[in-house]
Amino acid sequence: MSETPKNPSPADLDRMTDAELVRLGTQLDEVDIRFRENRWPDGVTSRSEKRAARVVTIWFALSAVLALAFAVVYIAWPWEYRGQGEDGYWLYMLYTPLLGLTIGLSILFLGFGAVQFTKKFIPEEISVQTRHDGPSEEIDRRTIVAGLNDSWKTSTLGRRKVMGGFLGASVALIGLSAILPLGGMIKNPWRRGELNIAGDGTLHTTGWTLASDTRPDGLPAEKVYLGRDTGKVYPDGHPPAGEGRLERIHVEDLSAGGLESVFPLPASALGDFEEHMHSIHGVRNSVMLIRFRPADAARVIKRKGQENFNYGDLYAYSKICTHLACPTSLYEQQTHRFLCPCHQSQFDALEYAKPIFGPAARALPQLPIAVDSEGYLVANGDFIEPVGPAFWERRS
Ligand code: FES
Repeated sequence: MSETPKNPSPADLDRMTDAELVRLGTQLDEVDIRFRENRWPDGVTSRSEKRAARVVTIWFALSAVLALAFAVVYIAWPWEYRGQGEDGYWLYMLYTPLLGLTIGLSILFLGFGAVQFTKKFIPEEISVQTRHDGPSEEIDRRTIVAGLNDSWKTSTLGRRKVMGGFLGASVALIGLSAILPLGGMIKNPWRRGELNIAGDGTLHTTGWTLASDTRPDGLPAEKVYLGRDTGKVYPDGHPPAGEGRLERIHVEDLSAGGLESVFPLPASALGDFEEHMHSIHGVRNSVMLIRFRPADAARVIKRKGQENFNYGDLYAYSKICTHLACPTSLYEQQTHRFLCPCHQSQFDALEYAKPIFGPAARALPQLPIAVDSEGYLVANGDFIEPVGPAFWERRS
């Protein structure tokens, strides 16, 4: 090997071999390699080397298989909710544990393989380096690249095709597993499903749309009560027959100054616990029902086109913030403001819930309400504008 020049010119660098560049790099970095030895002798493949290669390959292979299993479980496992006692309950219950188990073991086995590979195949080396400051120069970059090339060659990974293949597959599949769950968030917001207690899947509808005279499914309007959540739960998940979670609100139920969260409760679903839970979980369903004190009700400013949406001093506003859809669940009774806790938007309840502070730019939509012959509060139609944040096709 020729003597390594102390201050090589670009022409010298071009002439130098990788080994010479590595040596130059260590000198320039003031690295003192005290000890360096390949794990296995060059040119001879012993049985113990083969055994070591096999063990590492198996770890990488197991990691790749489990990453693949994660993808298969994520895509194909029956994940739809099943209640206790229903067919498919245990398969449903296994979905999340299986996702965690497969991706967790995949990463663990990849780690085992990497540790074993480093211990069995990367040359043993003891180096001492003094640290220094400053940016990297051309010479440093060249020597670093040479060092990486040297690591690749001496690691022997280049000639261990099967092991390298499984390592690559494992890393690629684990990367895929990280991206794959994003697929569940991609959804066509205009794909119209059946209109039910949570809307029809598009951004224009909610469970209250069932009360609309112009329903998108063409069916006649249903009677939809304002339903109060009683919070009932049953330890075995099975409510007695006819036992609902939502209950109707009588016009006398709410005292002056009071506020209640309500959800759509179709007359056809009274006492249907499961439907009530779907109503509560409907992302655009929740509404704040508020009863102003007489003095406050006299100061209310109504929005044009919504003059008959209230029933006396009772008003119903969507709870979904028009900024980014957080629940505007805080009500300041003295100032009559709804406050959204996410980014502090405030809405004036006395003036059609128009925004008066924060990033929200539109009023909270108002639900038209009425009282039926028995004195229960019902929706008097649907919202006249979409609930929640802006979207491209929105006109209001
Ligand atoms: S979501 Fe309500 S202020 Fe941002």
